[in-house]
Amino acid sequence: MKNPARIKINHLLTATRPADTILLSGWVRTRRDAKTFSFMEINDGSSLKNIQVIADEKLTNYEQIKKITTGSAVTVQGALTASPGKGQSWEVQAQTVEIINFASDDYPLQKKRHSDEFLRTIAHLRPRTNKYGAAFRIRSEMAFAVHQFFRDRGFRHIHTPIITGSDCEGAGELFQVTTLNLDDIPKKENRVDYQNDFFGAEANLTVSGQLAVEMFALSLGDVYTFGPTFRAENSNTRRHVAEFWMIEPEMAFCDLRGNMDLGEEMVKYLIDFALSHCPDDIELFARFVDKGLKKRLDHILNSEFIRLPYGEAVEILQTAKTKFTYPPAMGSDLQSEHERYLTGKHFQKPVTLYNYPKTIKPFYMRVNDDQETVAAMDLLVPGIGEIIGGSQREERLEVLEKRMEELALPKEPYRWYLDSRRYGSVPHSGFGMGFERILMLLMGISNIRDVIAFPRTPGSIEF
Ligand code: 4AD
Ligand code: MG
Repeated sequence: MKNPARIKINHLLTATRPADTILLSGWVRTRRDAKTFSFMEINDGSSLKNIQVIADEKLTNYEQIKKITTGSAVTVQGALTASPGKGQSWEVQAQTVEIINFASDDYPLQKKRHSDEFLRTIAHLRPRTNKYGAAFRIRSEMAFAVHQFFRDRGFRHIHTPIITGSDCEGAGELFQVTTLNLDDIPKKENRVDYQNDFFGAEANLTVSGQLAVEMFALSLGDVYTFGPTFRAENSNTRRHVAEFWMIEPEMAFCDLRGNMDLGEEMVKYLIDFALSHCPDDIELFARFVDKGLKKRLDHILNSEFIRLPYGEAVEILQTAKTKFTYPPAMGSDLQSEHERYLTGKHFQKPVTLYNYPKTIKPFYMRVNDDQETVAAMDLLVPGIGEIIGGSQREERLEVLEKRMEELALPKEPYRWYLDSRRYGSVPHSGFGMGFERILMLLMGISNIRDVIAFPRTPGSIEF
């Protein structure tokens, strides 16, 4: 007899009729013994739900089966039959149970609830729990949704480089990339001599694909890049990691308003996609992680986002009754407590702030007619704060060069960038959405470390 092909458990659970022989493989979540049977709950990661397997004492290796521990890996051949049990439609009557590997007794994920803090210390095993299995299935679906969103709208996907020679944000939060011997660094006039380094110049991991993707917006029109970005930002918060994924659309012939429209549309699209494509996994978060999740997501889907100039936001904050740790000040960047006040308390919905003072924003943002503010935008959401940061770009060569001089930026590393303002420069705009930040919103997860496989934070690189 030919062996049947393995079927994933999500398909078995949605079968429309019984089957004489099916083959499944997975990890045992729990096992319990009845008088003449052993029941196993098996999960293969294809869905949140397990399938129940019933192993009869007549099986030749029944003595071994009775030793199967939580976490062990098995392959089962058996009959798919309607289940008399409550809450499950199908179960499997085993014909053979092959034990692929016994998990030893110290398997840390025994059947009980574990804290997120503990699970972070076993980040290599946590995707085997219901919660993290669900989180990473949702993450995978949402990455697909991002591409679908842009493809439906005629955007082209550009792979921008990870290693770069410039600092897009100008914040100096760079991880350097070098092949120089750190124990014996070549120096010239007391400074590192990069001539003998791999690229013959200083290089670093990208903080944003924007400068590169702008060149493609000015060629292909509507484009986006979606990749890992790196920031050596020494802040241990619930919403910062040193390695995160950013989605960066860039549109030629588009102004700040079009940019804000796209940001809002994208947030709503992603929420809608998660609710309709990952109902079981989202349900887990709504039941066990954040009881208000569904209501909040529906509310965001159905609201028109507030759009407010930065100056007006600061006025609202200054007249607020709330005592802030950092008093809001005109000309200073907003703190996360301010963002939370505006979105969670004052407006109770997402807010896009725009026209920030140029002194707190990077060199590439378009200077407004008042000469004081730039055409920047930040989209803030309740509970998290900023999830999108972007702007209309400075397309006027003279203004851009003047800004760079004000900020004492060297022109040479940006020579190619300035070229784009020489040859057919046009108004264009774009933004960056933190992929982990939107995932936090979708799942009601309050710590960014729990939506990325192996989080990188200051002082920690275990996995
Ligand atoms: O606001 P940021 O710094 O904007 C840029 O980098 C622009 N160059 C993007 C563009 O216009 N193409 O970062 C964009 C978003 C933030 O709104 C936030 O969601 C996320 O990236 N982000 C982080 N996410 C996790 N950890 C960090 N350390 C992050 N820093 C920024
Ligand atoms: Mg920002």
